[in-house]
Amino acid sequence: MADFVGALDQGTTSTRFMVFDHGGNEIARHQLEHEQVLPRAGWVEHNPTEIWERTRAVIQVALNKAHLGFGDLAAFGITNQRETTVVWNRRTGRPYYNAIVWQDTRTDRIAAALERDGRGDIIRHRAGLPPATYFSGGKIQWILENVDGVREAAENGDAVFGNIDTWVLWNLTGGVDGGVHVTDPTNASRTMLMDLETLNWDDELLSFFGIPRSMLPEIKPSSAPEPYGVTRRDGPLGGEVPLTGILGDQQAATVGQVCFAPGEAKNTYGTGNFLLLNTGEELVRSKAGMLTTVCYKFGDFAPVYALEGSIAVTGSAVQWLRDQLGIISGAAQSESLARQVDDNGGVYFVPAFSGLFAPYWRSDARGAIVGLSRYNTNAHLARATLESICYQSRDVVEAMRADSGVSLDVLKVDGGVTANELCMQLQADILGVPVSRPVVAETTALGAAYAAGLAVGFWTTTDELRQNWNEDKRWEPTWDEEQRQSGYAGWKKAVERTYGWVEV
Ligand code: G3P
Repeated sequence: MADFVGALDQGTTSTRFMVFDHGGNEIARHQLEHEQVLPRAGWVEHNPTEIWERTRAVIQVALNKAHLGFGDLAAFGITNQRETTVVWNRRTGRPYYNAIVWQDTRTDRIAAALERDGRGDIIRHRAGLPPATYFSGGKIQWILENVDGVREAAENGDAVFGNIDTWVLWNLTGGVDGGVHVTDPTNASRTMLMDLETLNWDDELLSFFGIPRSMLPEIKPSSAPEPYGVTRRDGPLGGEVPLTGILGDQQAATVGQVCFAPGEAKNTYGTGNFLLLNTGEELVRSKAGMLTTVCYKFGDFAPVYALEGSIAVTGSAVQWLRDQLGIISGAAQSESLARQVDDNGGVYFVPAFSGLFAPYWRSDARGAIVGLSRYNTNAHLARATLESICYQSRDVVEAMRADSGVSLDVLKVDGGVTANELCMQLQADILGVPVSRPVVAETTALGAAYAAGLAVGFWTTTDELRQNWNEDKRWEPTWDEEQRQSGYAGWKKAVERTYGWVEV
């Protein structure tokens, strides 16, 4: 068998390809950013053709850098930003519209109407999700209703839908020359269209959005001993490699963090934050604003579920300080600037740019900076931004505790923002539990590699994968209980100030 497994991680801001060895060590990587298309307030799009071009490029450059060829790869896994919606023509390969990104809020009226029409509880029960702009169903409906010709093309079978996993897989396996149209249950569980128990598309849910079933990809296991397909010979790998793993990026990070037992959880700090708690084969329905989602489905084994707390804006709030306000020149500077002060100086920043996701689910919310006095400086704002990442995570941990009764002994973390040592210390202080970061911080790509490698016997058991996990650094809480409580009370007050800024 070949010595390595490859994984493509197509995220919200960039695309990367990585190669791992049997020990889960990184052998090669290349990464490229793509454009964030922001046509109006609340709208966020990506160009699917640009994403496919970036995909080709990162695969080729990473393999070239490490002097590897397709023959060195035993399997190929895909992980992706979830919910982001592409509709394209299967005959021409051309998208009908830009990809509508998960952060996009243009479907707020669609989501509000579902609730008004009494469909909210059906969606919550069957799909595990509250009606919200976040998920794919409303985005597909918007494209069907607003882009000329798509409805007819969907009805005659030419227009097809995919999240980014499906779009990339279709192109990697042949595109117009026979690309396969497949997804996995972790991605499908983010559409509001899949029944969590059967892991199939649900006709009643489809009818709520007016989506023809023929548009949808086939749902296959996240780790597939019978490959979805092979990479095309004239594609970026230059030869055939079995495609055997697909996981939405947050589920992939959960796998990469080896959270295979019920009660194990991880928090990923990227554009947003996503905390997933493995609940095993039990489908826990949230009463506290968490999502119920598929964690993974490996081959013929029963699906494993998770409770998820999704936070829309965390790392992207730091980017906002850089790109829109210009008060820092790079992410690292958010730490040095925030370190100039000992506390937030009374300032709270709630970055509700896309409304508020878990546990609030308020699409009428917009961002707020409160508690300002003349005394405050950029440093307080930088500190309040880092604190907002940690307070939002605390909100989710509280909701998770209410739903599952599980209190975390330690929080496993990963993602770009975990390089920010101050932020990680604040997280331990604000939660009152230790925070632990693994040596291999690229847990998302690693998780996709694990799913693909397990399918072909490159790894044989999840226990074997556990051996690959090692702690790099741990932060212990230093605040006393009173400081923690008063800080959190201020945050809760600030959150309330964000409600009701847009009509939905
Ligand atoms: O649900 C959205 C999530 O999958 C996006 O993750 O890492 O691309 O920001 P990321």
